[in-house]
Amino acid sequence: MQTVIDNYEELRMDLIKNDRRFSSKNGHLCFDGVDVVELAKKYGTPFYVFSEKEIVRNIDEIKEAFNSHQKTKIFFASKACSVMGILKAVKDSGICVEANSLYEVKKALEIGFKGEQIVFNGVVKKVKDLEVAISNDLYLINVDSEFELNNIEEISTRLKKVANVCVRIEPSVKAAGTHEQLDTSFHAKAGLDREQAIDICKRILQMPYVKLKGLHMHVGDQLPIVEPFADACRVLVEESMSIEKELGIKFELINVGGGISTAYKYEKDKIKTVESNMHIGFSAKDFANAMIKEIHKWNKDIEICIEPGRKVVGSAAILISELSCQKNKTLHPLNAKDPITHIEWKFIDAGYSVLSDSQHFNWFFYVYNASKINEKHNYSVRLAGPLCDGGDWFRIGTNGDREFLLPKESTVGDFIVFIDAGAYTIESQTTYNNRPRTAVVIIDKNGNDRLIRREDTYADILSYDIY
Ligand SMILES: Cc1ncc(COP(=O)(O)O)c(C=O)c1O
Repeated sequence: MQTVIDNYEELRMDLIKNDRRFSSKNGHLCFDGVDVVELAKKYGTPFYVFSEKEIVRNIDEIKEAFNSHQKTKIFFASKACSVMGILKAVKDSGICVEANSLYEVKKALEIGFKGEQIVFNGVVKKVKDLEVAISNDLYLINVDSEFELNNIEEISTRLKKVANVCVRIEPSVKAAGTHEQLDTSFHAKAGLDREQAIDICKRILQMPYVKLKGLHMHVGDQLPIVEPFADACRVLVEESMSIEKELGIKFELINVGGGISTAYKYEKDKIKTVESNMHIGFSAKDFANAMIKEIHKWNKDIEICIEPGRKVVGSAAILISELSCQKNKTLHPLNAKDPITHIEWKFIDAGYSVLSDSQHFNWFFYVYNASKINEKHNYSVRLAGPLCDGGDWFRIGTNGDREFLLPKESTVGDFIVFIDAGAYTIESQTTYNNRPRTAVVIIDKNGNDRLIRREDTYADILSYDIY
């Protein structure tokens, strides 16, 4: 259950005055210095807009967080956003990339990452996926099962190519405070049992073309607190130490996965709570310190690999939609003695086919009227998308459960933005109801906007069908 944000007005003022990404001009919201209303008119809604500067800033924050451990390698988890223009921006900032499917591997190669800059994850990697990975000398394949390892052995021997691998283990630490579907380290489908790790490593050592580099984990996504990362890292370190000792080997690296969270709610007094994983109580620096502290108890010289996704792109995009219809409706009570109430529906042109997180994970986003950003957002409305489902409306509102706060004068033709919308959003769009997946625009480092993905056309949608 969400609480009402009673300081929403304060947050709006703070957003346009102090937030590095936002400002206002002529009553319009500006993102990275560019008028959102002008953007909306130029590109047509709904669509996402990224700030390259913000991506670079986020990457710099992660680099800076780990600067006390020089041998750190950062792999951007491309599942968070694999639009080619975004992969290019990430590549230009000098970090590497993580892929979770054959096509993510191929997109990474296509944009110019070398094999040695790519880590490959996933619970199902088929033979053809592994063939591409091994042929392209990927930096690491994180082995998720013995079945997969058998395939890696067969393929690497057949191709006479070395496969560099990490063994993913489940640390069995609860990813406390986050959505249960975002917990990947406790009773999870991913990874091997800790107890299996030694035998798997022993087997790898006997494989002529498979090279064991270290152990891997991924605790979970969007945790509100850092402690589970420290606990899980302790497990991974203990396991690494014990395998090294038992097998008389030295690991080259430890891969601690992703999980640096992004704040979706900023109210300062709530910053430490775990009431919801939309408030974040730790920074990239806290994450780095927690990991480094545990790892240095074992080895100060080992390479640390990390796979951040959400932290890189989450704060770097907004979704721009248009208020496209409105109506008032009556809520007749079930019991005739109860009072009749009225609600005002505002419909935008982006539903859960465009922003699925809101539906699947009860995600929270701050929502503003970009056309009237200087006006008080204190009028309660229900905000809905265009899809046929009765459920296609945004429930986790800025005015508590179900309601959003917008200016009273908000009307059809205004542009409504969702902020912090850069991670796992574009990736999970669908063409449900035959509505196109959206365009994506980037504002580059020089402040120039350009299209980096076009909206699906009618021809695109037809082109999949054979008739
Ligand atoms: C193996 C692995 N690494 C990295 C990530 C990225 O996580 P985040 O976006 O929370 O940093 C994920 C997310 O699911 C993952 O499964």
